[in-house]
Parts: sequence; structure tokens; C-alpha cells
Amino acid sequence: MKKDIEKIFKSTNSVVVALQHAQSVDGYITKEAVALIADVFGKSQCEVYSTATFYHQFTFEKKGRNVISVCMGTACFVCGAGDILKKIEDELGIKAGEVTKDGKYSIEHNVRCVGKCDAAPVVMVGDKMIEKATVAEVVNEIKRLSK
Ligand code: FES
Repeated sequence: MKKDIEKIFKSTNSVVVALQHAQSVDGYITKEAVALIADVFGKSQCEVYSTATFYHQFTFEKKGRNVISVCMGTACFVCGAGDILKKIEDELGIKAGEVTKDGKYSIEHNVRCVGKCDAAPVVMVGDKMIEKATVAEVVNEIKRLSK
């Protein structure tokens, strides 16, 4: 990855582009990537970390190729989001905040209101938002992605 980061430094001098590259390679921003980018760009690791935390697109946790988010805000919670989350955890054999062994799925933890309270409970499976979600719909979507 060092050669790629050096190339990005020479062509764009953009820490953001370097971070995007690092995340595309590893799936998330590793401590090693922060150290490497800091070294190549002549910045402190704190400066690189500050840039990465400013942008919502960067994550410091390993995630699955398909990220599942169950909104646990008040409206969704009272409409059954807790039961849906439990079923997803059982289906995938992981808890919220974890990644399946094959790296295919991860479940976000502590997801709060996503601004669609009128459609509660709301679940995101990959790019698909499921409104007024039921356990059956969510499980079907997960199975569809498994194919
Ligand atoms: S509480 Fe879930 S969308 Fe608002």
C-alpha cells in the first residue's frame, strides 16, 4: 500500500484520497494506514486521524460487505425493532457490532433515529431501506444477498 499512498501524495496531495484508498483496500481505516499516511504526507498521526474522523464516510471498525442497521430509536423500538434485531443476530450467528466469519455481513450497533419515524420500524440491509419492516422481510432480504 505504501507505493499507492506515495502515488496519491504526488498526484493529489490529498489526505482524504489516501484515506479513501486505504479504506477500499482494508475495508476500514487501520492504525497502520493512519501511520503510513502520516509518514508519507509529513503530518502527525493526530492530523490524519482528525481528517478521518471529520468525514462520516470513514470507519475505524471492520465491517461486512453487507452492513445491516436496525434503527433502535424510540419509534422503531416501540414498533418491534428489538425483536427484529434479535432475529437477525440469531440468523447470522453474530451480535450487533460484529462481523460474520466470512466477512459477508455485519450488524451496526447503537443505530439511532434515521429520520423515518413514520415508517417504523426501519431496517437497512446493504443499500436497501426496509420501511415498516417485518422479521420475514428482513430475513428474506438477507437470504437474497446470500445467493
Ligand atoms: S426512531 Fe427509527 S426512524 Fe426515527
